[in-house]
Amino acid sequence: MALQRGQRILRFPDGFLWGTASSSHQCEGSNTNNQWYRWEQSGRTLTGETSGDAANWWQEAEQDFSLAEQMENNALRLSIEWSRVEPSEGRWDSAAIDRYRQMLADLHRRHMKPLVTLHHFTDPLWFADRGGFTKVENIRYFVRYVSYVVEKLQDLCNFWITINEPNIYAVLGYLFGEYPPGDQDLMRAMRVLRNMMQAHVEAFHAIYHIQPQSQIGCCLHYRLFDPASQLVPLDRAAAGLQNTFFNWSPLQGGETGKFIFPFNLLLAPIKGAAGTRDFHGVNYYTRDLVRFDPTRPAEMFGRRFALPGAVRNDPGLANNFGEIYAKGLYRVLQSVYRRTRGNKPLYITENGFSDTRDDRRPRAILEHLALVHQAIREGIPVRGYLHWTLVDNFEWTEGWGVRFGLIELDPRTQERTPRISASMFGEICRANAITEAIVARYAPDAMESIFGIARQESSRLSV
Ligand code: BGC
Repeated sequence: MALQRGQRILRFPDGFLWGTASSSHQCEGSNTNNQWYRWEQSGRTLTGETSGDAANWWQEAEQDFSLAEQMENNALRLSIEWSRVEPSEGRWDSAAIDRYRQMLADLHRRHMKPLVTLHHFTDPLWFADRGGFTKVENIRYFVRYVSYVVEKLQDLCNFWITINEPNIYAVLGYLFGEYPPGDQDLMRAMRVLRNMMQAHVEAFHAIYHIQPQSQIGCCLHYRLFDPASQLVPLDRAAAGLQNTFFNWSPLQGGETGKFIFPFNLLLAPIKGAAGTRDFHGVNYYTRDLVRFDPTRPAEMFGRRFALPGAVRNDPGLANNFGEIYAKGLYRVLQSVYRRTRGNKPLYITENGFSDTRDDRRPRAILEHLALVHQAIREGIPVRGYLHWTLVDNFEWTEGWGVRFGLIELDPRTQERTPRISASMFGEICRANAITEAIVARYAPDAMESIFGIARQESSRLSV
């Protein structure tokens, strides 16, 4: 890309990974053998919709990989569907593995590094029916599946995310009852969280044994909770408890095996946790303000809401997508770095916006990336940014009602229409930088906020 003289530029480090993230159930279609399918079939999604053909990746993922290639992405995160690979206990489907091999080989041909998630919210029905992750003795099934997949795909992938967001899976499925199995039981939710993190540890060792040179980690969802009023001690306490429960206790549990007080009193430590990650996967979307509310014990005595007047995502029926808050990503990167003593590189394994009209996303991406750049400049080793997501896909309980794609998808016709954000993301990836020209083209109003963020370091290009 031609840069004009005197342009301000935020250049990312050489080798920075640029791409998108997605998951099997949300994109593949025809996944009929997992607990989410059953949930959809029993009419439990908020919109009543089902995943159906989703984005049709089981047939034609390569068509979307080609769109990612056109954006000059050099990485792509996808997940393997356990219920395809092991449709019933101990029975392995080699045709499913072959299909994943095709997809990964196609990514390599397009010069995109595959980052592969081994569990992204979906469980085979047989596993769910045995109690899933509520039972510590079921962890061995997950580890056996992981070993099988890594054996079969190791020549095509060396970057593994064992489990996506155990904190979301546990909280939405077992505490808030919004995801299957629809439980509302704090103790069970905590046990699931703990068992999934134990499963990560055991999967880490299994993968390491098979492929010692691979990079292995997991990702947590970080959602910031800020007190509605700094002056109200009970607001501060409720927000603090939510941050500890949802963000920092899982992070610390994964690092040291011990959860943070008071959750350590309720949960068995994770055995052998230390040293079981080569990177930290950071998924970040939004923050909430928290007002103390004694009627909400399941939410740690806090009522959550979005900052009034803030620029927002499309809210969805559950009104869960909240504020677009770029600073939050920076704060999360700082906290993860500090709390883990900077021991490992960080990857932003998800960050995205529900914005059907695409009239907030371009600016949001730029502002978030400018702060990622600032974090890197301050020495935080962020190595990649995976935007959620490439094409609109099945958004769990929100069905097709909220749209996170850089590319619009009509699920009835499977027609794709790139949004403006897709062109912009392509330009950023191609340049490995945010330039003034890009900001001028896609979010001129954000010029000062973007380069103001990076005020102290904006370097002048001499071309
Ligand atoms: C999940 C994705 C989901 C996204 C947007 C993340 O927590 O990993 O599967 O689509 O949020 O809600």
